[in-house]
Amino acid sequence: MTQDNILVIGGTGKTGRKVAQHLTALGHNVRIGSRSAKPSFDWEDITTWQEALTGMDKVYITFQPDLAVPGAPEAITALCEMAKKSNVQKLVILSGRGEKEAQHCEQIVINSGLQWSVVRADWFNQNFSESFFLDPIYAGQVALPRTEVKIPFIDTDDIAEIAVKALTEDKYNGRVLEVTGPELITFGDVISMINQATGRDIKLHAIDIDSYVEMLREHKVPESYIWLINYLFTNVLDGRNSSTTKTVDELLGRPAKSFADYATETAKTGVWNPNS
Ligand SMILES: NC(=O)c1ccc[n+]([C@@H]2O[C@H](COP(=O)([O-])OP(=O)(O)OC[C@H]3O[C@@H](n4cnc5c(N)ncnc54)[C@H](OP(=O)(O)O)[C@@H]3O)[C@@H](O)[C@H]2O)c1
Repeated sequence: MTQDNILVIGGTGKTGRKVAQHLTALGHNVRIGSRSAKPSFDWEDITTWQEALTGMDKVYITFQPDLAVPGAPEAITALCEMAKKSNVQKLVILSGRGEKEAQHCEQIVINSGLQWSVVRADWFNQNFSESFFLDPIYAGQVALPRTEVKIPFIDTDDIAEIAVKALTEDKYNGRVLEVTGPELITFGDVISMINQATGRDIKLHAIDIDSYVEMLREHKVPESYIWLINYLFTNVLDGRNSSTTKTVDELLGRPAKSFADYATETAKTGVWNPNS
């Protein structure tokens, strides 16, 4: 097996840290791309990118905060050009399922002239334990719009394994790997499963999107973040993603992780327990 030098952008994040662990275990040389890494890589400071790219064969791209935000296509275009000049061979980008703007960014990678794979993922299980839904779960009161929509939440363990396949196996060059979890579930199902796993009695309140945005403002959530949440609930969580794919089964030879299994594992860490 060849030993590659691989830059993992967001390499301490939800998917990146698992991708970095797997690649290191396989014997590849991993460089973390993040603001706290050395050399530092900051999406908001293009002067930091060259040093992170120098000497790299492949790059795993996770963009911050989301490929849907204004400015993402320009940043992805600049990264692709710099990667090409730096003799990078292959790019693997993490993208969002059902996001028109993210698919525009995918096209930039696809047309970069480098080898590429796209990992196009549905919403992560880990949004409930490592991201925006953790605080309300911890507080025991979750107010959300779109509680009726069925979503095939996917685990970042599965995304990471798929991304590693894409980074290390040539047969996935030129492929869009659309990944979902194994089942369609609602936010109500999610809260029931977390309650079952933790023994808690977390309440879910259905609210409309305008009230949700108002609530986020009252909690002094930054406007850029409110824009993203509003976009995702309005343009992505409208039922367009209410279908599953078999990509995990086909590539990993096993079913994707269920939300119930994720909830059981995560409950054991104590992250959802206000008394821990
Ligand atoms: N959440 C979902 O359900 C979902 C679904 C589909 C697709 N996605 C896509 O997933 C991507 C995010 O991937 P992820 O969830 O694996 O990562 P993540 O957990 O959001 O990312 C955290 C990582 O990014 C680094 N980081 C934060 N700001 C940065 C900046 N300005 N420049 C460079 N690095 C920065 C952090 O390290 P430092 O703090 O040290 O910089 C850390 O390594 C987004 O593009 C999103 O569109 C998400």
